[in-house]
Amino acid sequence: MGENIRIIQLNDMHISSGDIFRNGANIRNNFLKALDRIRKIPHDFIVLNGDLAHDIDDNDYQWLKEQMTGLKYHITSGNHDLSPLLAKSFGLEKHLISDKLFYKKRYKGKNFVFADTSEEYLDTDILKRFIDRHSGKADTFVFMHHPPSLCNSKHMDTFYPLGNHAEAEDYFSKCEQVEHVFCAHYHTNLNLKKENFSLHICPSTWYQIGRKQKKFNIRHSFPGYGIIDIGDSVRVKHYYIK
Ligand SMILES: [Fe+2]
Repeated sequence: MGENIRIIQLNDMHISSGDIFRNGANIRNNFLKALDRIRKIPHDFIVLNGDLAHDIDDNDYQWLKEQMTGLKYHITSGNHDLSPLLAKSFGLEKHLISDKLFYKKRYKGKNFVFADTSEEYLDTDILKRFIDRHSGKADTFVFMHHPPSLCNSKHMDTFYPLGNHAEAEDYFSKCEQVEHVFCAHYHTNLNLKKENFSLHICPSTWYQIGRKQKKFNIRHSFPGYGIIDIGDSVRVKHYYIK
C-alpha cells in the first residue's frame, strides 16, 4: 500500500497580455478565483495542464508565475503555448527535446510524466522514453493537454482533436504502466473509461463548452478545477466555482 497523494489540476487559464473580458468572464479574475479556492485545499502539488497563455507573450507567464509564488506545481504545454518560451519562463529548458517539453517526476513511489502536445500531436516515441516498462502496473500517471482519444464532444472532436488520437489511444491501451491519463483542452469535465485506461478531462478556469453541438457554444463561464486522489484507488472529481 502506498502513501496517499492529492493533486490539484488547473488548465486552460489562457492568460492574455491584458486584463481581458471575453466569453462571459474576466480571464485573469476567473483564474484568481480558482487559485483562491485551491489554496485552501491541502494537496501535494498542482498541475497546470496546458494553455497557460492565450496569446504568446513573455509577460503572461510572468504574471502567472507571480500568482503561483509559494505553491508547488508542474506544467505541461498546450496548443496556445510555445514550448521553448514556456520552458524558458519556468526554468525547464533542460527538459526540451526537439523543442517539446517532456519530463518526469517521481513522488511517493509513483511516476508522473508530463507530456507535450503543443503541436496538437503526441510524440509517442518521445513519450516511451519516459515510461519504464519494467515498473509496476498502473504506477505511472500521465498529464497531457490534449485527450488522447475522441471524447463525445462534438465541437472539440470535430475541430480540435489530438492529431494522432488513434495512435495515442492505442499506445495507452497497450501500456500496462499507465491506467490514468489527465487531460484538459476540451473546456468541459469528463471521466471516460477506455480500453485498459481512463482519461479525465478537467474543465478550464476560463469558460466551458457544451459537448452536444458541433458549433462553438459556451455552456457557462464558471472557473473549474480538479482534485485527483491517488491511494488504494484513484478518484478524480471536478468542481466549478459558482
Ligand atoms: Fe488547448
